[in-house]
Amino acid sequence: MSKNPSFTAVEEPKIDSSDSPKCVVVCQHRRCANLGSRDVLTAFLANPSTKFSVIGSGCLKQCGNGPMVRILPEKTWYHNIKPEQVTTLIKQHLLGGKPVTQLLYPRFHTQPTNHSTD
Ligand code: FES
Repeated sequence: MSKNPSFTAVEEPKIDSSDSPKCVVVCQHRRCANLGSRDVLTAFLANPSTKFSVIGSGCLKQCGNGPMVRILPEKTWYHNIKPEQVTTLIKQHLLGGKPVTQLLYPRFHTQPTNHSTD
C-alpha cells in the first residue's frame, strides 16, 4: 500500500509513437501548487479535446520555476504558466503544432534571438 494513498505521483507517461496524442503534464507538487498549478490544471481540464490528454503529476524536478507544464511525447517544457496562458498553449501548441516560444523553459529550450551582429 502507498504511503500517501490520496495522491498518485506520475513520473512520466509511456508514449513512444509520434502518432500518439499529446499529453499535457501539469506538476501538482508543493512548490508548483503554491504558485497556482491547481488552477493551471483546471484550465487545461476545462478544454477537453481528443487531440490531447491532461494529467496532474508529482514533482517534475524543476521546483521554483513553476507552475511547470510538460508536453509529451515531444518533451516540450513550459514554466511559470498562468491559467490565462492555457488557451494560447492549447490553440498554438496542442492544436496548432507550434510551440509558444515566449513561455518555453529556457533551461531546456534555447530561444531564437533577434540580435544582430552588425
Ligand atoms: S514542485 Fe513542480 S517541479 Fe517540483
